[in-house]
Amino acid sequence: MTYIEFKETPLYAGLPYGELTESDEMMLFKYAQGKVLEIGTFLGRSTAIMSAKADWVDTFDLFEYIMSIVEEKNRMHYEELFRKYPHSFSEVREFLSRYPNVGVHLRTEKSLKRIATASQPFDLVFLDADHSEKGVESDFNEVIPFVKRKGVVLFHDSFQRDTDSSQEVYKFLERMPSYIIKIDQTPATGSITVWEKE
Ligand SMILES: C[S@@+](CC[C@H](N)C(=O)[O-])C[C@H]1O[C@@H](n2cnc3c(N)ncnc32)[C@H](O)[C@@H]1O
Repeated sequence: MTYIEFKETPLYAGLPYGELTESDEMMLFKYAQGKVLEIGTFLGRSTAIMSAKADWVDTFDLFEYIMSIVEEKNRMHYEELFRKYPHSFSEVREFLSRYPNVGVHLRTEKSLKRIATASQPFDLVFLDADHSEKGVESDFNEVIPFVKRKGVVLFHDSFQRDTDSSQEVYKFLERMPSYIIKIDQTPATGSITVWEKE
């Protein structure tokens, strides 16, 4: 697994490479509390940041099984990221074992529902996996029943960008159900929006 420091400060020492900006990471830190559910572990950086404030973090990823992503554009996007930063479920689990309040899970067809049912209710969900319109909608619909009232959902890459057509989270957010309202967002240096379940 590749460890790359992009900030040589004590707070970030020992964390692996991640795809979030500093504003995004500050947003995660601001809202991390209680029980957290994350989809999109990657190398474990965002998980580690949230675990610093949360009581418990359950995190899910496909890890080396990204070939199971059905939608081609999305699969190619993650295969390219994986080629740049090769890793495995067991390596990421070993890295995250230094955080006693983290559960790392391989996402299978049933694992998320099973583990989320046992752990719920969640105070915070961080969605940073499938960025296609349908994919993020499907993840949202799967996790929202497990979020408590006044619980928060963070969406990464939720600002509209012209450059990358695989990033379509904003299209789903434009038709978000009315029982969940937008309460915060990062400045343009980030791309996270924050939603609260009524
Ligand atoms: C951008 S990375 C996550 C970065 C991580 N949150 C961080 O900030 O350090 C997105 C991850 O989502 C995973 N992924 C993509 N589609 C997925 C799916 N349907 N279910 C679970 N994980 C998925 C990829 O394998 C990849 O590791």
